[in-house]
Amino acid sequence: MARILTGIQSSGKPHLGNLLGAILPAIELSKDEKNESFFFIADLHSLTTIKDAQTRIDNINSVAAAWLACGFDTEKNLFYRQSKVPSVCELAWYLNCYTPFPMLANAHSFKDKSDRLSDVNAGLFTYPVLMAADILLYDAEFVPVGKDQKQHLEMARDIASGFNHQYGETFVLPEARIDENIMTIPGIDGQKMSKSYGNTIDIFQTDKKLRKNVMQIVTDSTPMEEPKNPDSCNVFALYKVLGNEAQIAEMRSNYEGGNYGYGHAKQALYELIVDRFGDIREKYEYYINNLEELEKKLQEGEQRAASIADQVLKRVRAKIGY
Ligand code: ADP
Ligand code: TRP
Repeated sequence: MARILTGIQSSGKPHLGNLLGAILPAIELSKDEKNESFFFIADLHSLTTIKDAQTRIDNINSVAAAWLACGFDTEKNLFYRQSKVPSVCELAWYLNCYTPFPMLANAHSFKDKSDRLSDVNAGLFTYPVLMAADILLYDAEFVPVGKDQKQHLEMARDIASGFNHQYGETFVLPEARIDENIMTIPGIDGQKMSKSYGNTIDIFQTDKKLRKNVMQIVTDSTPMEEPKNPDSCNVFALYKVLGNEAQIAEMRSNYEGGNYGYGHAKQALYELIVDRFGDIREKYEYYINNLEELEKKLQEGEQRAASIADQVLKRVRAKIGY
């Protein structure tokens, strides 16, 4: 049984890119009988940038609802909020005292954030230590992450092996799992879809708003009658990600045949999204309107997570004399 663990940022409502690039592949991985998955919402990390309480609560709810709607099995696996197992903060403090200052000062993500953000707080600086605690507190073996998190994983491993070297075998050394095959989903302007570019497709909104969102996809001004090049079109790029082979071939011939406008292509894409995500959208609505059910599932995960965390923490305290 391999223990897989990953943290999910609660930085906003998940969009189509998050679903296809992160949530659905992680859920696929969690279905493997050989794996036991610990997926948690990194709501303590979010305090480094999000200070408004209600915004954080709303983000946590929408992220949790999206994972449940996409079919994450919370009985086979563990699903919890990082902040609800506060022993992670205790471990993070211990680890802080074993983390060389230059290791943190040289982190790419800290350098990048401290250049961009006006609020450069100490939490941003020690972000990787809390992340190491997230992983080491549960004896995680594999950590699926995006390429941007590679250095953070190396730091977690270095901190763990430094500690083991000094005190003997205490922590499991975690390994990053970086899936190079996951594609980047384009946004409505053709750049990578991202909350920070304001170019997302939000599938968790009403049909009417979703349709409007799809209609906003940027296209050129080739007149309706003329043939069009599907390979340079943002609508086709998304259609290609979602459609089956026959649908894609038909759409390609519509573009190349002429007398088929971008409005038609957008309508077809909208219908495809509604069709493909109908069930997921319905379940999302259900959880958002029944938050007590979502809360119950999270609390169950949190109880199980806390009892595992306690055992690991005891092991650590014993080594360092607390
Ligand atoms: P955003 O860029 O919208 O802020 P995050 O950085 O919070 O998204 O990403 C959360 C997860 O979703 C990460 O695993 C990331 O790799 C994945 N993801 C985000 N945008 C895309 C995209 N356009 N295509 C594929 N995966 C994406
Ligand atoms: N830093 C990760 C991100 O930005 C989120 C995260 C927090 C995480 N703790 C983690 C990921 C532990 C993996 C393991 O996406």
